[in-house]
Amino acid sequence: MASVIWDDDLSPDRFRDLTRTYFDARSVAYNSPFHQRLADDLLRHYPPPKTAGDVLDVAAGTGAVALSVAATLAARVASGGADPGAGPVGRVVAYDLSPGMLAVAAASAREAGLDHLLTTMQGTAEGLPGLPDAAFDALYCCSSLAYFVNVPAAVASWARVLRPGGFAAYQSFSADSFVSGVAMAAAARRVLGDAAGRRVFSLPLESTADPSTCVALLTAAGFERVAVVEEDLTRRVEVATLAAAYGEGLSANSFCTRLNELDPSTRAAVQAAYVAEVEARRGADGCVEDVQRSFNVVGYKPMQ
Ligand SMILES: C[S@@+](CC[C@H](N)C(=O)[O-])C[C@H]1O[C@@H](n2cnc3c(N)ncnc32)[C@H](O)[C@@H]1O
Repeated sequence: MASVIWDDDLSPDRFRDLTRTYFDARSVAYNSPFHQRLADDLLRHYPPPKTAGDVLDVAAGTGAVALSVAATLAARVASGGADPGAGPVGRVVAYDLSPGMLAVAAASAREAGLDHLLTTMQGTAEGLPGLPDAAFDALYCCSSLAYFVNVPAAVASWARVLRPGGFAAYQSFSADSFVSGVAMAAAARRVLGDAAGRRVFSLPLESTADPSTCVALLTAAGFERVAVVEEDLTRRVEVATLAAAYGEGLSANSFCTRLNELDPSTRAAVQAAYVAEVEARRGADGCVEDVQRSFNVVGYKPMQ
């Protein structure tokens, strides 16, 4: 099972710091059709509540989900679907570790004239400090769980901040997704041996490994009526594209911390083994299958 192994070298606090630094640096160039697609799928399967409501986007990044929700609230007011005289239509809080990502979200909200509906807040997903109990009607978390240092603690805090009857909806990928990660994990094990290889690199997707694990994650935190919709985004990728991903240089992604810290000759051996792993998967079309099973999961906080 793939998960980050914590020790004195890579503690949860250090990993979170590295994750924040990574996303701060990536923030301005982060937005992409891929991430927008994931957010759009999640919202299509689980739209915000029809009645006025307060919505939290956990690990909101540049606000792919939060901005769409704010636009939905604004459209409701504009079409008379919500009566401004009856009280606030709701608000959206975009919550994230990275001030850089949140700054992009806030700028986009201003540009779209949605800043009266969307606020940003910096903090850690594990515990959601600064957010009161039972304050939100819906909560989204898109494309982020793999970065959390304690996924069950994060999900427990979703239950804390939701009002009874509210829902949490998240998107994540299966454990066999992303061939670049699967091949790099295999390469690290091949060069370093099983235990050391696992310690050096894995994509931490074990808490959403398959649909039943996704359901168990929410059920363990007390959510009910848990459901999963799978979107198969599997594609074929050119070998050259994959080889470039880790073969030529390594990523600054926090997942790659221990890879980046290997001595140069061991790192080069792992990179060469990665390219060999990718080559071994080459099909007749010169491409490799890149499994991407995207899970869209929802659960409701019990009324009492
Ligand atoms: C891949 S981005 C996804 C952003 C956005 N939800 C989207 O769908 O585009 C992952 C986000 O998770 C945030 N993140 C990672 N670990 C976090 C943590 N422990 N607490 C809060 N945010 C975290 C990062 O700062 C980053 O903005």
